[in-house]
Amino acid sequence: MRAVVHDRYGPPDVLRVAEVERPVPKDDEVLVRVHASTVTRTDTGLRSLEYPFSRLMTGVRRPKRTIAGMEFAGRVEDVGAAVTEFRVGDDVFGIAGGANSEYVTVRESGVIAQKPTGLTYEEAAAVPDGSLLALTCLRPAAPLRGKSVLVYGAAGSIGTATVQLLAHHFEAEVTAVSDTKDVELVQSLGAPDVLDRFHEDFTKNGKTYDVIFDAVGKHSFRRSRRSLKPRGIYITADLGFMYHVPLLALVTRFAGSKRAKLGIGRYRKEDLLLVKELVDAGKYRPVIDRTYTLDEVVEATRYVETGQKTGNVVLRVSEAAAGEQPEPAAKH
Ligand SMILES: NC(=O)c1ccc[n+]([C@@H]2O[C@H](COP(=O)([O-])OP(=O)(O)OC[C@H]3O[C@@H](n4cnc5c(N)ncnc54)[C@H](OP(=O)(O)O)[C@@H]3O)[C@@H](O)[C@H]2O)c1
Repeated sequence: MRAVVHDRYGPPDVLRVAEVERPVPKDDEVLVRVHASTVTRTDTGLRSLEYPFSRLMTGVRRPKRTIAGMEFAGRVEDVGAAVTEFRVGDDVFGIAGGANSEYVTVRESGVIAQKPTGLTYEEAAAVPDGSLLALTCLRPAAPLRGKSVLVYGAAGSIGTATVQLLAHHFEAEVTAVSDTKDVELVQSLGAPDVLDRFHEDFTKNGKTYDVIFDAVGKHSFRRSRRSLKPRGIYITADLGFMYHVPLLALVTRFAGSKRAKLGIGRYRKEDLLLVKELVDAGKYRPVIDRTYTLDEVVEATRYVETGQKTGNVVLRVSEAAAGEQPEPAAKH
């Protein structure tokens, strides 16, 4: 099968498409024929060693897993003897290491669910990463119902997911901050109040919020502190300059009424099932910026690394047969 592989860490050019052996599902695994995958900031961060200590998990000298990618959508091709939840022919989506590939094996109990019927494979592949990271990063601020939440970096993968989850699932009062070109899109996702970061500085408009979520890790607790209500929480998706956020989180836990927190993203099956329900109910939609073919993975990765994508970047892995999936619906 064809897959995007990399034998070493480094720039996007270390990625190449190669023929590798097709995996065989174990008893508790399903084999998915992948039709669509993505390139995410997590993929690029792990490959480029943006955080050098991530090597402790991914391999100290070279990557332990040589096939790139994590998000997938496709059709179940084979199931292990002990699998009961999925059958051959099911359309599925989720998160699994090595998803930039024509086939991937996923544990039945892993982050995999039936694909929402109204989404194409390409749309479904763009759902899990941003939404599952957003759900887990927001957890320190729970419960969110009725709270005023400002989302900074609202047009990214985590940002577009966060705005929708806050508006349509948590029923919070959302204010979003995005770049000029994405203001309308972010409004359409459920934020009635969207500030254009190039024209309005939220820290200077006198408004305060229960929660400020920095979904791109480009703001700071220090600068946004005065925009937090007493006992307000600043959550950031990034470790910050010199990885200072964990220490800051510890200090603000004991000093002052306003707290800083590092949003720790996790991929959990129960969250994928929740997001699938939201998609089915018309309360969540993936935002896709660009779609590339598997062979264009280096170009796709370079684009993701600009840090300027809107929503998600999809990789078309293999064509679905005619009539296998609905017409694309998601627009932005
Ligand atoms: N905490 C975790 O567990 C976890 C897990 C995975 C990833 N992350 C981190 O989460 C962050 C967001 O990931 P993502 O995939 O959502 O990012 P993304 O999709 O690449 O974010 C792109 C968006 O960020 C905006 N942006 C870029 N620079 C900005 C700035 N200085 N100020 C405000 N907005 C800016 C861009 O707007 P413009 O077009 O105007 O530039 C664009 O809309 C990344 O830093 C990633 O490493 C955290």
